[in-house]
Amino acid sequence: MINNTTVKRVAILCSGGDCAGMNPAVKQFTEYATARGLEPYGINMGLAGLFRGDITPLGYHDVSGIVYRGGTILGSSRFPEFHDPEIRKVAAEQLRRHQIDSLVVLGGNGSFLALECLRRECGVSVVGLPATIDNDVYGSEMALGVDTSLNVIRHCLDSIRDTASSFHRAFVVETMGRDCGYLAIITALTSGAEVCLVPEVEFDITAIENRLRGEIENGRTYLTAIVSEAVDGGAQMLTEVIESRLKMACRTTVLGHVQRGGSPTVADRLNAFEMITIAVDELLAGRESFAVLSQSGRWVPVQLIDIVARVISIPPNLLSMAHRLAN
Ligand code: F6P
Repeated sequence: MINNTTVKRVAILCSGGDCAGMNPAVKQFTEYATARGLEPYGINMGLAGLFRGDITPLGYHDVSGIVYRGGTILGSSRFPEFHDPEIRKVAAEQLRRHQIDSLVVLGGNGSFLALECLRRECGVSVVGLPATIDNDVYGSEMALGVDTSLNVIRHCLDSIRDTASSFHRAFVVETMGRDCGYLAIITALTSGAEVCLVPEVEFDITAIENRLRGEIENGRTYLTAIVSEAVDGGAQMLTEVIESRLKMACRTTVLGHVQRGGSPTVADRLNAFEMITIAVDELLAGRESFAVLSQSGRWVPVQLIDIVARVISIPPNLLSMAHRLAN
């Protein structure tokens, strides 16, 4: 357990899909931990790097000029091998070798579960900070990277609307999000899409067809539809329906990894600073094994055990707005 009397070593790593906001978080971690008398370390390439012992001290010079950069200077990885207790033992040994007693992880649910196992088996104090464009961390309204991703998608959608309206075409746009339709719903609502298909909302393709047919008869000349990547049949299915049944020329755009990049928005930079500040303060206060989550618009510490392996549900008001676009 950390206390104020001894300088302690804390490490940070990024796990899973990278996202905007990780760099501001690494910067604040380094600067704030140092200012509070801790020794900050960075672990390169996520849990895979931890397993290999790719661990280096972090100083002011390492994090200068990174606040506006997307991605993460530390690198990230998916490392399913971490589910193996033997692999975690090696990881814990690497932390011990560097005398690191607390580990801060920027990532999603999968990483938090792995962390909780590491804490239980090896007594390492761990902190989970939600950082994923999927916005699927249980108990948190927001995750780092979501705001930037939504703004990247909004920019793409505005551009697509320009060509759709000029050419009298339909566009079906596929967004990321893994099993969570958050990005798709917010995008559909804020870009004025006519259709939104997400895994959380049952859709009726005949009802959608009839609604759109009526609108086309009333003068609609183009349309945009958003489909989340986990939807059955996906964007291709909807494109075929629009072309074959509504006889409107339709193109499919899979946005892909552009959604993960980009300079972090002001909101993501501020979120990064706030969650790191709370994480360091709580560690110094002696708290162990917790996450910092966004609840009722504030970042608050919550015990990790209460959130791991639980599935997020999208707020009902968003789901009911999405329902209108799925029928
Ligand atoms: O978790 C972030 C995410 O971008 C998901 O939205 C997507 O399903 C997945 O990662 C893509 O993974 P990869 O970068 O390994 O192709």
